[in-house]
Amino acid sequence: MGSKHRLLPWLESVLGQLNFETALDGFSGSGCVSYLLKVMGKDVHSNDFLAFATDFARATVENSTETLSAEDVERLLEPAPSRERFIEQEFDGIFFSHDDRVFLDQVWANASGLSKGQLAIAMSALYRSCIKKQPRGVFTVGGGRYDDGRRDLRLTLQDHFLESVDIFNGLVFDSGCHHVATTSDIFALAIHETPDLVYLDPPYVPRADDNCYVKRYHFLEGLATYWRGAEFHPTSKVKKLRKRYTPFSYRRTAESAFEQLFEKFRDSTIVLSYSSSGYPDLPRLVELLRRQKSEVEVFSEEHRYHFGTHSRVSDARKLVTEYLIVGQ
Ligand SMILES: C[S@@+](CC[C@H](N)C(=O)[O-])C[C@H]1O[C@@H](n2cnc3c(N)ncnc32)[C@H](O)[C@@H]1O
Repeated sequence: MGSKHRLLPWLESVLGQLNFETALDGFSGSGCVSYLLKVMGKDVHSNDFLAFATDFARATVENSTETLSAEDVERLLEPAPSRERFIEQEFDGIFFSHDDRVFLDQVWANASGLSKGQLAIAMSALYRSCIKKQPRGVFTVGGGRYDDGRRDLRLTLQDHFLESVDIFNGLVFDSGCHHVATTSDIFALAIHETPDLVYLDPPYVPRADDNCYVKRYHFLEGLATYWRGAEFHPTSKVKKLRKRYTPFSYRRTAESAFEQLFEKFRDSTIVLSYSSSGYPDLPRLVELLRRQKSEVEVFSEEHRYHFGTHSRVSDARKLVTEYLIVGQ
């Protein structure tokens, strides 16, 4: 949700005009913008407050050398008779078949000997597999109600995992620069050396529904730590985790969150991703950024979002304008 992967060529064309060597991607999500920055030869600090998002960035950005060999994968797939059976038992009748759930418990049990980079690849491959196997790619409903027989739903989680490991292995490269991935609320993030550029892509306050990442991806966030210390929402049928508060989700707190954000990073070039469907609107955001930055420039690009489940074609292919607001 909210991934910028389709916009990467445009992002590169804008970022390529700016002078910087070190960058912070403060809301890294899928990690694709951090990866772009790595490809562009920058030192990258990738951060998100969700642990599974950090794993994507750890596997593909922080990690420059580690991959999973065929033997490593074989070891991960071995039976683990003394494994914990948390997923098998807790998510029975909610997500995935019995064999798929056993597979997840098994890989978790076998993953303990992996290095940090390898573990991030294994976890990223598991997340990708779970998303692929889940109808609509989110964990808001269980029970396979939307099963339309397509390939992604027919493959076992293990099949998906094998494909996904190949994909993540193939992304690993050494750019010769230094990269780090962290899990932190942006406002609590300790910055030791001021990055030349900070890229900010916070969630948008939506017009309808909500933008809660935990609601959609709680299973992946739980899996990131095998639900250690996690708290289920008391009434959730799909065993959601409790919502993580972010001020960017609410009209009454979003503006002051942007103000704080711009102040925190006032010594860096700020590049904010925003869309015409978000709140506050563009003139207001420019005004807030101008308080910290003498030069503010806005780049825009039309972008079509696809919402597969909407019934009307006009709703299904909404055109929004994407902005990059650059303050120097
Ligand atoms: C729009 S998405 C980022 C998408 C990303 N640029 C990509 O292309 O995949 C917003 C991200 O912000 C994270 N997030 C929300 N509030 C946060 C906060 N207060 N601190 C850090 N991360 C936060 C969410 O977990 C989510 O991954």
